[in-house]
Amino acid sequence: MSKRVTISTLDAMKAAGEKFVMITAYDATFARLVSEAGAETILVGDSLGMVLQGHDTTIPVTLEDMVYHTTCVCRAQPHSLIVADMPFMTYETTERALASGAALMQAGAQMIKLEGGVWLSDSIHQLVERGIPVCAHLGLTPQSVNVFGGYRVQGRTPKEAKSILADAVEIQDAGASIVLLECVPENLAADISSKLDIPVIGIGAGAGTDAQVLVLHDMLGLTEKPPKFVENFMAEQTSVKDALKAFVEAVKSGKYPRAEHAYQ
Ligand code: KIV
Repeated sequence: MSKRVTISTLDAMKAAGEKFVMITAYDATFARLVSEAGAETILVGDSLGMVLQGHDTTIPVTLEDMVYHTTCVCRAQPHSLIVADMPFMTYETTERALASGAALMQAGAQMIKLEGGVWLSDSIHQLVERGIPVCAHLGLTPQSVNVFGGYRVQGRTPKEAKSILADAVEIQDAGASIVLLECVPENLAADISSKLDIPVIGIGAGAGTDAQVLVLHDMLGLTEKPPKFVENFMAEQTSVKDALKAFVEAVKSGKYPRAEHAYQ
C-alpha cells in the first residue's frame, strides 16, 4: 500500500465488494508492521488496557493513555487510516465527547471510535460537524461489560437484534463513517452490512461484514485463552510481519473467518 488510506478508500472498497482489514497497534513498531502488511486501518484500541496494562477490562484506560499510544502509532507514519478509541466515560456528554475527540485528533488520529448507539447520535452529529470522523462500536461493547454481566454475545433475541439494527441505522444517519460490530450472530451482522451504506467491520461477527478486525496479541497467538473467533496467524509463520500478512490475505480471500469462528 503506497497511498494513505482515507474513508473514501474504504467506501470505494465497500462499493466494489472488496474486504478490508483493521488490526490493533499501540506503538510505532507494530504500526509500521501492520501498515507494511497491507492492513487498511489501524485501531489504537482501548484493548491496550488488557493486553499492555494487564487489567481485566478496558475500563481503567484513560484519555491520557490513549493520547500517548496514538502519538506513538502516528510516529510510524503508517499508510493505514488510524482510528483511536475514546475510553470509558470520556464521551458521556456531548461536551466531553468533543473535548476527548479533539485530544485524539490532535494526537494524530484520523477517526475516533466510541461504544454505543442511539444515545450517542447527537454527539456523533456534533463531532462530525466539527471535523471528527466517527466509528461506532455496537454489539458486545467491552466498556459495558458490567452491564452485560460478562463478555456475552449480543443480538441473539429478536428484540436485541432489532435494537442493534436500529442503533446502526441511527448512527449512520447521525453521520458515523464506520460501524464496528463485535460478537453478534453472523446473520444479524450480514443483514446490517447489507442495509448500511457505510462500511461495517466485524469481530466475532461472521464473514458477512465488509471488513474484519482482530486484536494484535490475539492473532499473534499471545493471548492465554482467546475467544473462539480468533485464529493464531503466527502458528504457520516464522515472522510477525508474515503473520500479519497472512491475516490480511485470509480476510481478502475469504479464508477468514470460517464457520467455526461465527456465532449463531
Ligand atoms: O479496543 C479494541 O481493540 C477493540 C476491538 C476489540 C475491536 O475495540
